[in-house]
Amino acid sequence: PGTVAAPVEEAKAQSAAPAISKEVTILYGSQSGNAQGLAKNAGKTLTESGFQVTVSAMSDFKPNNLKKIQNLLIVASTHGEGEPPDNAISFHEFLYSKRAPKLDNLNFSVLALGDSSYELFCQTGKDFDQRLAELGGTRLYPRFDCDLDYDEPAAEWLEGVLVSLSEAQGGSAAPVEAAAAPTGESVYSRTNPFKAEVLENINLNGRGSNKETRHLELSLEGSGLTFEPGDTLGVYPENDPALVEALIGEMKWDPEEKVTVNKQGEVRSLKDALTSYFEITVLTKPLLGQVAEISASEELLELVSPGNEEKVKAYLEGRDLLDVIRDFSLSGIPAQKFISILRKIPARLYSISSSLAANPDEVHLTIGAVRYEAHGRERNGVCSILCAERLQPGDTLPIYVQHNQNFKLPANPDTPVIMIGPGTGVAPFRSFMQEREEIGAEGKSWMFFGDQHFVTDFLYQTEWQKWLQDGVLTKMDVAFSRDTDEKVYVQHRLLEHSKEVFEWLQEGAVVYICGDEKNMAHDVHNTLLEIIEKEGGMSREEAVQYLTDMQQQKRYQRDVY
Ligand code: 2AM
Repeated sequence: PGTVAAPVEEAKAQSAAPAISKEVTILYGSQSGNAQGLAKNAGKTLTESGFQVTVSAMSDFKPNNLKKIQNLLIVASTHGEGEPPDNAISFHEFLYSKRAPKLDNLNFSVLALGDSSYELFCQTGKDFDQRLAELGGTRLYPRFDCDLDYDEPAAEWLEGVLVSLSEAQGGSAAPVEAAAAPTGESVYSRTNPFKAEVLENINLNGRGSNKETRHLELSLEGSGLTFEPGDTLGVYPENDPALVEALIGEMKWDPEEKVTVNKQGEVRSLKDALTSYFEITVLTKPLLGQVAEISASEELLELVSPGNEEKVKAYLEGRDLLDVIRDFSLSGIPAQKFISILRKIPARLYSISSSLAANPDEVHLTIGAVRYEAHGRERNGVCSILCAERLQPGDTLPIYVQHNQNFKLPANPDTPVIMIGPGTGVAPFRSFMQEREEIGAEGKSWMFFGDQHFVTDFLYQTEWQKWLQDGVLTKMDVAFSRDTDEKVYVQHRLLEHSKEVFEWLQEGAVVYICGDEKNMAHDVHNTLLEIIEKEGGMSREEAVQYLTDMQQQKRYQRDVY
């Protein structure tokens, strides 16, 4: 239900040439780790079926080797507005460059991950699929485009790939059950979350702040879950009961009506289904189309009719399901029919803010409360407001660990690190510091933090001061943007210290950025280029190359949202 899961039609599978090799290369482009997990899982499944599999991030793959590959699987997520994730950028560029080779011997298949609430849904996967075909490759199996709820389509894709590969070998389909979830040591995963008890839940901001940042401590006791600094935690939230009630009231449904929520025939009360099973806050273009269809509202059908794309886009902006129901006076739709078009509520990913070595059996989160007004109604971030307003110590929260190889402390504890994390971007760096303190790491470290006001918004202030005092942290620079007439941001602090920043880079420091992507991370990136140009006596192009090389060497890592 609601999942854009079908194999993509125009991409008809062709049978691959006979007697193909048993070697399969799986490349992933992953920002938050979903694609990486699926790629690793596909690798495991194919290995168990007798294939010789290499799984690699696109950024770790030498594109010149592409010509030597016969079987290629690509698992790629899409980032931001249709862009490739960081670790797919260079491979993506290579394929579109003049250096891209003819690939007449290549069999390939693409699994594309995305979010249908974005206009350029699964764009990166589509790019790879189209480009590999243009270069002469043959589709071993059609591309699948997956929405947030990707487990089922991903498993189906993998099974299809497996059958195609096996058939191309001249054998029959290996009857291996394709498990969708990446497997770790713990039995708990994205598809089987652990109910973690809340140990602590406090507001880090002081009275009078514009912000509310929750510090959550959860118990992992008995879960077997482990993580490293830089990893993220998936949290399954429940919808706001007031919103659920409003929705049910507006549609004159019976909250206790029994509804079937999935293909497996799971039955729940309507109220429960709308509270904890389905997403009811995000309105996507495909969903609006489906609402129009099942409601048969003429006005709504008119809005979604061809040629009105711009109008639809404008309407979707900041609106949710309740708005559609009210704006178009929808009524008389049976609850069962209505829920059949909804997506499953997706987990929210948060950067973990503690170290397991320092806090065994615990995981900490640092979550900014999201509240705003739109179209005359107060709107709340689903998960952050659950944490801010309803979640009490003693309650439980369904969670899982998502490993993130793109954001990792250097293996060598002597390597210097520069950490840039304003606002809730501070989270992973608290975990880095806890870890480095715990293991007695000797490498230099430099933290750049920023927020609105020193008095109310200096998150974890006493901890930072203690780390500075104890020498766990070498340097710290802060930018409180609203304490002075002129705004100061973390990038201004970087620039003030440009000489020393560049020295650290030359000494091999790893640079980490965490937090807001559109404004902060973008501006910090440009400031880094400026510093490299100025202090390294380089041209703009040379500075860009310098940062690209750093990225390639995993010395420039971003966890941005
Ligand atoms: P502001 O709210 O005063 O604009 C954490 O949210 C901090 O990041 C705040 O101090 C915020 O400042 C700041 N911030 C906003 N836009 C930024 C940008 N483009 N670059 C760096 N910091 C930014």
